[in-house]
Order: sequence, then C-alpha cells, then structure tokens
Amino acid sequence: MASPSDSTQVIPVINNKGGVGKTTTAINLAAGLSRAGARVLLVDLDSQGSASLALGVPRSKQHPSSADVLFGEAPTEAAIRQLDGPGFDLMPGSIELADTDVRLAQVQRRERRLSAVLRPLRDEYDVMLMDCPPSTSLLAVNAVIAADAFLIPLLPSYLGLEGIVSLGEVISKARDSLGYVAPVLGILLTLVDYDKEGTEQIIAQVRDHYGDKVFDTEIGPDVNLEDAPGYEQTIFEFDETSRGARQYARLTEEVIERLRERERRKNESSSSTAGDVAQSAERDTNGTAPRPNGAPDAPDVAAAAGPSASR
Ligand SMILES: Nc1ncnc2c1ncn2[C@@H]1O[C@H](COP(=O)(O)OP(=O)(O)OP(=O)(O)O)[C@@H](O)[C@H]1O
Ligand SMILES: [Mg+2]
Repeated sequence: MASPSDSTQVIPVINNKGGVGKTTTAINLAAGLSRAGARVLLVDLDSQGSASLALGVPRSKQHPSSADVLFGEAPTEAAIRQLDGPGFDLMPGSIELADTDVRLAQVQRRERRLSAVLRPLRDEYDVMLMDCPPSTSLLAVNAVIAADAFLIPLLPSYLGLEGIVSLGEVISKARDSLGYVAPVLGILLTLVDYDKEGTEQIIAQVRDHYGDKVFDTEIGPDVNLEDAPGYEQTIFEFDETSRGARQYARLTEEVIERLRERERRKNESSSSTAGDVAQSAERDTNGTAPRPNGAPDAPDVAAAAGPSASR
C-alpha cells in the first residue's frame, strides 16, 4: 500500500535543542517514505534553510518559501518544488522565517497559520514532514498546532535530555491554545555512539522512562549522513549500502508501521499523547527524569533549558 494512512499525516520533526539530527532525519525519512510509495512533502521551517540547501535549493532559489506562504505573500502551491532525485516535494525555508514572531504579531490566529496554509494540500500528500527550527518560537508553536503526530529526535546525552524538557513547554503552550495536542509518533535516538562512556546507561534510562514511545531503531554516527548534503543527495542516493541508509530504511518501516497502527486505533483513548511527553517534562522538573549519574538534578535541567531556549 502506497499510503501508510488513510488520512494525511502532518509530522513535525521537532526538538528545541540544536544539532540533534532533525534536518538529517526529516530529509532521509522523507526519502524513505517516498521510496515506499507515499506522496511526501517536506516543509522547511528553519530560517537556516538547511534542508533546502541539502536538497539542492540554494538561497537564491528559496523564494517563494514557507515564509512567503506563512506571511500570506505567496499561494501555497507556488512555494512547492518537485525534487526529481529524492522523489518528494519540498517547500523551502528561507532567512525570512526568522522574522515570523514579528511578522505575524498582529495576525489573528497566528498560532494556526501553518495549519491553515497546509490544509488545502492534504489531498495531495500522504505525509507532510516538517523540519523545525531549534527554538520555542511562534514557528515551533505553529508546527505543534498543525501536527497530527510528532517525531522527536533525541541525543542520548545529558544535554540532549534538556531539549525534551523545553519541548514539553512548547507542547503545553499549544495545549493551552488548542485544548488538546497531537500524539507522539515516536522519539528517535540519534547520533548514538556506544563507544562514548555513559551512552548505554542514558539509553537504558530513556527507554525505561519513555517506554514504547522510543523507536526501536537507533541512528548511529555515520560520516555518509554528514557528507550526503554536500552532494545535495539523500542518504539513499548517496550510498544505499551505508549504515545510515540502512538505519533510516528501518526507521521508515517503523514509522509506516506506527502510522498504520494509529489508523487502526484512531479513536482509542489509550494511545500515548504529546501531552504525556509534556507531563513527563513536567515530572522532570520534579526530579524523576532519566539523567546520567553525577549530573545535576532535573530542576537544573529545566532551568537551563527554559530561558535560553525560549527565544
Ligand atoms: N547520524 C549521524 N551521523 C553523522 N553525522 C550526523 C548524523 N546526524 C546528523 N549528523 C550531522 O550533525 C549535524 C547536525 O545534524 P542536523 O543538522 O540534522 O541537526 P538539527 O537538529 O537539524 O540541527 P539544528 O537544530 O541546527 O537545525 C550535521 O552536520 C549533520 O550532518
Ligand atoms: Mg536543522
């Protein structure tokens, strides 16, 4: 079956922490899903435009971009590029995304702009992935509100756990505005290096704490994943036999399986929700979060994550 789900799934790849593999995951999962036959749109929501650059859309060609669409300056369709090699479509990001909080300040229902502009595309795609910026800005809140499910890359390190705490804050904001939040599709452990001291222990704690929200697949360090963007290729085009390609292919299978499972259980209340992650984050502030031995207590994690990540 080409489509993993009966209805279009809008899935932000999101974590307020920088450098955790959001862009790498968004690109290669988009490629994996499209190879599996799904119609995929990747929306670049990062003002750095990293996903767009990595897919061969230079800054000079990033207009119209997702910023133009969000600000109502271009029709949604005009911003979509068909990428022949990777096999999916891209709505590029651009530097103007950095102005989102200011540009949308006076706009009514500004938290729901993204949701509104993507709505007409729901007939055209099976999956819309979003590469989110590492912030708790209005853009991230828009992504959370537009979401049908979240994919959260997580670095198995003490600092990596910080990101999930401040993500809980964004999710809580969205829940306050919407009254509900989308479920977590999965937490993806990225850049997992078992040669690094403490990795095994942190992963055990993360898996224990977040249970089956954590994907079985883990993405290890692979220089091919780092090099592929320089050639404007996804990992499958760059080296299909690489470890990174095999791991992202496995992640794709898991994602498809979870989307199908969600479809089966659509209206069951037992599914885990992003609210659970928010609650976990809230619990983290009470000191029950997984943390490596010798690290400061979780309240310090929340304090460190809060102010620095909130702008
Ligand atoms: N599994 C991996 N193996 C090796 N390098 C990786 C891997 N995943 C990501 N990288 C590299 O690590 C860096 C950060 O990854 P990426 O850009 O995907 O993170 P990000 O979360 O999108 O960062 P930002 O928050 O800045 O947008 C990049 O140089 C990327 O090529
Ligand atoms: Mg990125």
